[in-house]
Amino acid sequence: MVYFETCSLTVYLYRSKNRGKTWKVFSLTIIIPMRIDIITVLPELLESPFNHSIIKRAKDKKLVDIVFHNLRDYAMDKHKKVDDYAFSGDAGMVMLVEPIYNVITHLKSQRDYDEVIYTSPDGKMLNQPRANYISTLNNIIILCGHYKGVDQRVRDHLITLEISIGDYVLSGGELAAAVITDSVIRLLPGALGDETSALTDSFQDNLLAPPVYTRPAEFNGWKVPDILLSGNDALIEKWKFEQSMERTQRLRPELLEDWGEE
Ligand code: ADE
Repeated sequence: MVYFETCSLTVYLYRSKNRGKTWKVFSLTIIIPMRIDIITVLPELLESPFNHSIIKRAKDKKLVDIVFHNLRDYAMDKHKKVDDYAFSGDAGMVMLVEPIYNVITHLKSQRDYDEVIYTSPDGKMLNQPRANYISTLNNIIILCGHYKGVDQRVRDHLITLEISIGDYVLSGGELAAAVITDSVIRLLPGALGDETSALTDSFQDNLLAPPVYTRPAEFNGWKVPDILLSGNDALIEKWKFEQSMERTQRLRPELLEDWGEE
């Protein structure tokens, strides 16, 4: 038996006349939402970013299911302790292995996970190919780091992917988790109004996106490039590509070093 936790089901029914007979054709679309479990000591911090705009719409359309887990609920003592001093004597608290083990074991008993991600400044850098990869997964866990980080045994035995969102240190991994989640959800089929627009984002082809303009065609003497008003699709495409190349060369030349490679 196949069991879906939640899914959206679309049934198309066509009627066509064929030699006097009526044929009915059914087409089923079953969308199984991507499931993202986020483990955090600050669930309140994450509520707002996930309740607006594209992420909210993706949740409403059942493309994604985001569930927060307060790490303190899995603490071992009555004080809900989730951190302790480092054995090395260094300043700063270290997140305890037991509560993290408890919550991840609990989640894994309910479903299989493709990746257990840990947000950390020393993880692999988040970039468009990594966001693309994560968007193809079914179930993921994101563990938000805090304080001096987690006990190394968590990283050695429970984490499968460590992600950084930049070479700087945040106070906690929640904002990193929000950034990762946002970059992934906008790639889910149906999340964006215009299905093609994620493909034209900067970085999708290792190039920065070209400049964009909207009405009015002239404001304050500042004009939209004539070519965009020409109605010539082929010339517009060529212009966009040239602009992308020029922008990338000027602002992020290192992206062109492996341009055209997968
Ligand atoms: N936690 C603290 N700093 C971080 C960063 N730059 N990326 C991901 N997680 C973090």
